[in-house]
Amino acid sequence: MIFVSGANGQFGRAVIKSILAAGQAGSLAVGTRNVDSDFARELAAQGVSVRHADFGDPASMRGALQGIAKALFIPTYDTNDVRLRQNTTALEAARAAGVRHVVYPSFLNAESPQVEHSRLVHLPTEQAIRASGLGFTILRHALYADVLIGDLEETLATGVLTRAGGEARCAYVARADLGISAAQVLMRDEPSGRTYSETMERTYSMGEIAALMSEVFGKPVRYQAVAAADWPYYVNKKWGMPLELSMSMVGTMLAIEAGEFDRVTADYREITGRPARTMREFLESVRDGSA
Ligand SMILES: NC(=O)c1ccc[n+]([C@@H]2O[C@H](COP(=O)([O-])OP(=O)(O)OC[C@H]3O[C@@H](n4cnc5c(N)ncnc54)[C@H](OP(=O)(O)O)[C@@H]3O)[C@@H](O)[C@H]2O)c1
Repeated sequence: MIFVSGANGQFGRAVIKSILAAGQAGSLAVGTRNVDSDFARELAAQGVSVRHADFGDPASMRGALQGIAKALFIPTYDTNDVRLRQNTTALEAARAAGVRHVVYPSFLNAESPQVEHSRLVHLPTEQAIRASGLGFTILRHALYADVLIGDLEETLATGVLTRAGGEARCAYVARADLGISAAQVLMRDEPSGRTYSETMERTYSMGEIAALMSEVFGKPVRYQAVAAADWPYYVNKKWGMPLELSMSMVGTMLAIEAGEFDRVTADYREITGRPARTMREFLESVRDGSA
């Protein structure tokens, strides 16, 4: 049986949707803190085993992992110290419950010392997984293309795409596509020890993305750069993101500006047999309501 944590989260849902589309509801167990959500009830009605699982409660994790062969542990949005502890708890519970293979969504270029969540969460988690003796697959995700459309209505209304990252090119990939590839890795007989870096097969500058938005949505959009150091204050004021969380994004923005994410791979194609959707295809699916 396979397991997906964080069932009610956006990435969790994307993975679960792909597993259900493959007709594998009966082989799927999901972990969530809220087994009574509408989505959790829908899953249970489709034959999915819905289990209470909280990274902060090791006993719940051990219970939720009973009978599981392969488990995907999706990191949370807590502070970085808590996130690392949660990941370690999940790994210990996996070992105790006899899970054979763990799958972990990490971040592209996880070795980058500038990127705080990589340095403090993803890289140490990868190291703990490699040292655990468990079978494993690491999925290093490029920046979600979805981060570009959180404020799409405003972008199109004002004609201004406000972001940090300077003029550098950066790798992206759509969250829904990552749901498909993670589901593939979970459902198939995946050898242990692979690290995939999942990206679209070309990179994009912010100027290019603004131009693509103009073409796809039929409205003029230009890029307005915010300095990396000012980005936390911008997202705090604009979107209410807690300053502690937004502050930890400065290093990521500096790394993007420095071109650290100007790299692509064909790993997504290797997993799924087809390339990840391009930025244009992603934006078109947003426009058509099929993202
Ligand atoms: N590459 C990128 O650009 C990028 C962008 C955004 C996010 N991410 C990564 O993707 C992860 C998930 O993102 P998302 O957008 O899916 O986030 P999300 O929608 O906020 O989902 C996170 C889920 O984590 C679960 N969770 C929270 N606290 C938990 C706990 N104590 N124990 C067990 N589960 C807990 C929750 O599921 P339940 O409610 O079902 O318990 C929650 O819905 C992030 O943490 C981050 O690592 C990457």
